[in-house]
Amino acid sequence: MELYLTGEEKQMLKGEFGEGIKFAIEIIVNIAHALEARELVEIKSSHILAHYGSLHDAGIELMEKLVRLGARCRVPATVDPASIDLENWKAYQIPEEYAQKQMRLCDATKNLGVIQNWSCIPYQGPNIPKPGDNIAWAESSAVSFANSVIGARTNRTPAGLDVCAAITGRIPKVGLYLKENRAGTVLVDIKLKNIKNLDYHTIGYIVGKTVGVEIPVIKGLPETVTANNLKCLGAAAASSGSVALYHVYGVTPEATGVDPFGGKKPKKVIVISESEIREAERKISTGAHSEKVDIITLGCPHLDIDEIKEISKLFVNRKVKKDVEFWIYTNKENRDKAIEKGYIKPLVEAGVKISVQTCATISPISILGFRCMMTDSAKCANIVPTEHGMEVIYASTEECVEAGTITV
Ligand code: F3S
Repeated sequence: MELYLTGEEKQMLKGEFGEGIKFAIEIIVNIAHALEARELVEIKSSHILAHYGSLHDAGIELMEKLVRLGARCRVPATVDPASIDLENWKAYQIPEEYAQKQMRLCDATKNLGVIQNWSCIPYQGPNIPKPGDNIAWAESSAVSFANSVIGARTNRTPAGLDVCAAITGRIPKVGLYLKENRAGTVLVDIKLKNIKNLDYHTIGYIVGKTVGVEIPVIKGLPETVTANNLKCLGAAAASSGSVALYHVYGVTPEATGVDPFGGKKPKKVIVISESEIREAERKISTGAHSEKVDIITLGCPHLDIDEIKEISKLFVNRKVKKDVEFWIYTNKENRDKAIEKGYIKPLVEAGVKISVQTCATISPISILGFRCMMTDSAKCANIVPTEHGMEVIYASTEECVEAGTITV
């Protein structure tokens, strides 16, 4: 298949915009050939991965090479959480050598002009796409939110290709950039009466496990479903399966006022009722038999200000147990806002550690010797046992607070 390139893209390939862009567009063009793309698509923004835990030394080499070649982002680009708390990594016993490697990635991203947000919720600011925007994002949960809830267009851009997209402003036009590939293919019928916050994670987990790479259209969610509920549902579905786009009848932009199936019949129908939810909760909780929880984490995906407020309220007259670590994750901006509003003080006074710009899943948490984690995130619970060899107890936010604290 022949790949059509615009005049500007040919100039990039010739090196007329510098060696950095030339190197990056060569990678984009090679991938476009491999994917049999007919053309590249111009993107409005990128969201890239730069956590050392996933990129390793090869990722540092790529980023530093781009810096040496003089590359700079051509479109606004944000960055996913780091593998360490960038402000306070020593408090988490991160080895110096590991921290230094993450810092090299930080320096490289700064030099490339990447916005230093270090968060997986860039769509809450400072990288907010509009419906229909073509973007090239990594981070499966952010991809899911941008595609599904906002109606922007992106594939799950792999690490390395994300930064090349930011530098060139281009990505191969395949997959979810094409309207015909965005129609729903599987109907998910939710038959639950009162859907609680944790149920959204669990629904996402079941959807991901069941539909794989298909595009689910979800029916039966209440109109009151919040953006945070969908953030958690999408994160779980992207983690237990490969769901990059889902539609919710009457809620998400490509399922409101239009047929989300694009005139076709769904390939199959999946029903989720109370019994499926309870069974999935049991499966996710690998550590249900564990005698002791060592660490409790909340904030996957990163918490927004409303979620911090609600968690803060749960800590009134409570104190974290002596033999438990209680960590919550958010970005710096939300933490700072929460300090101003007085939400952080009760948490810190109760013994909670507020960790910014990172998260448990992508940090080297296993070196700290924890055996069993409790979390209210299906994504985190799905990854931690395989990634960090720990048991997991999956429970609601309220149950997590109850289990990790005493009344004072
Ligand atoms: Fe975000 Fe880390 Fe969870 S990057 S989605 S908090 S695994």
